[in-house]
This record gives sequence, C-alpha cells and structure tokens, in this order.
Amino acid sequence: AAEQGAEAAIIYNNVEGELNGTLGGADAGVIPTAGVTKATGAELVERAGTTATLDLRASFDEITTENVIAETRTGREDNVVMAGAHLDSVDEGAGINDNGTGSAGLLSTALSMGGTPDVNNAVRFAWWGAEESGLIGSTEYVKGLSFQEQLDIAMYLNFDMIGSPNAGYFTYDGDDSDGVGAGPGPHGSAQIEQDFVEAMRNQGIEVEGTDFNGRSDYGQFIAEGIPAGGLFTGAGGVKTEEQAAKWGGEAGVAYDPNYHTAEDNLDNVDRSALIRNTRAMAEVVDHYGQTTEEVNG
Ligand code: PHE
Ligand code: ZN
Ligand code: ZN
Ligand code: ZN
Repeated sequence: AAEQGAEAAIIYNNVEGELNGTLGGADAGVIPTAGVTKATGAELVERAGTTATLDLRASFDEITTENVIAETRTGREDNVVMAGAHLDSVDEGAGINDNGTGSAGLLSTALSMGGTPDVNNAVRFAWWGAEESGLIGSTEYVKGLSFQEQLDIAMYLNFDMIGSPNAGYFTYDGDDSDGVGAGPGPHGSAQIEQDFVEAMRNQGIEVEGTDFNGRSDYGQFIAEGIPAGGLFTGAGGVKTEEQAAKWGGEAGVAYDPNYHTAEDNLDNVDRSALIRNTRAMAEVVDHYGQTTEEVNG
C-alpha cells in the first residue's frame, strides 16, 4: 500500500497545473490503495474536480514527449500570433479526428504561408504533445516562458477536433454569450470569436459558441491572460434537432460517436467540415499575421 501511495504521488507530480493545486495537499487517506483501476491523466484531472476519491493506475511508465514549434522568419517577434493543435492521441485509437484533423489543418496553413511570408507579425505554430495526459505539452510551454515572452504573444488560436463525423460548428465563446461555465476569455477573445464567426459565415456556416471550459490546450494561455479562440466540431455532445436543421447530420447522435475509441480512424472524418474549418483557420491566421489591432487594441 505504501508503494502504491508513492506511485500516486508521482502521478500527481506529473500532472501539471490545477491538479497539483487541487491535490497537492490531498490527504493520502483518500487515495484508494487496493483494487485500483486504470485511468488516464485526463480522467484523473476530470475525477479530481468532481469526486472525493480517485482511481489510480496500478503502475505506469514515465515517458518523455515533445512539442513541435515552428515560426515564420518574418514578422514582429514582440507581437506573435500563435496557433496550435495537439499531436498526440489517447491509447485507445489513432486519434484521426482527435486530433489528426487539427494537426493537419495547422500544417496545411503553415505550408500555405511558407517560411518567409509577407507578414507584420510573426506566426508561431505549435503541435503539442501530451494533451490527452492533462494538457501537459502546452502547459509546460507557457509556464516555461518568461513574463516578457508571454507578453510578446498577441494571441493563441486552438484547433482540437475539426472534422467530427456528425460535425457541429463551434468557435470558443470569447464573449461568454452562452452565459454558462467558465465565463468570457481574456480581453480580445470576443474579437477573435467574431473573426471566426465571419470566416465561417463567408462559407455559409453559422457557428455557435462553445464554452472556454479549459479542456484543451488554450487552458494555460487564458490562465495567463492571453487572448484566445479557435474552432471545434464537437466530441461526445449530442447534436440537437435545431443544429441538424442548419448544419445537416443526425440529431440525437454525438458529434463524434467515436470520440476516444479505436473507431476514431480515417473512415470517420467529415472531410468537408475539415476543409471548411481549415479554410477559416488559414484566413484568420493570415489576417492576424497582418494585424492584431482589433484584438490587442
Ligand atoms: N480536449 C478534448 C480532447 O482532446 C476535446 C474536448 C474539448 C472535448 C472540449 C470536450 C470539450 O479529448
Ligand atoms: Zn481527446
Ligand atoms: Zn483533442
Ligand atoms: Zn459568444
């Protein structure tokens, strides 16, 4: 039991941010040391927020993983536009929608711009590691920056699941117009939301807001007050009749019925959703490469 308690402590230390805050002082007495079941870092984070006891993995391997960062050679380095997507998946499957789609859209945006685009602001692309283990790659990155380096980031744009097979069309709710959950994003996030609304409207799609609930890599950016936004086509949530009427697809079915399963494969991506979202991504990134005036004031 003592040994498993020690393992639990190591897991806590590996899961960054809030979990440390929440569990740092946790009494070892609440940790079940017998009959433990397997749980991922993300599940640990979820359970930590909602229940008093935790299921812990009986054993785990410590692995090292990487973020991949690429930045244009041109543009102001003190007003950087960041765009990111997580490159890892859950163990259960290949993670093609979650998040091959965001990663691929980001890559095609980067390739379309080239290394020395005619931009006023540098554009920095990030393919994050270890999102599914608790937003570790992006959190470590942001925390590893100096205060000045954080100030030099004009905004962060996130793309996690943009080709869900029963696609919804969502943009992070920077102005909290849905009035639920986490509240508005940092100042400037409402403008980013509006720019995504317009980029999708240009393609005939009326998007809805999705709550800044902290469940993707923008989490540490908004925690530091950096304006953020992005696109999302839905995970385990269920499409309503109203949404099916305006977007197509099936009401009463999850946006991604294969979320975090082995069925999240190449056959189960809505390619037109992926293309529409990638177009909007490229348009918005391009625009902010020219100016961030409306966002940063
Ligand atoms: N970040 C989640 C994942 O990668 C996706 C998600 C975001 C699910 C927001 C629900 C709400 O699994
Ligand atoms: Zn996921
Ligand atoms: Zn994801
Ligand atoms: Zn809104």
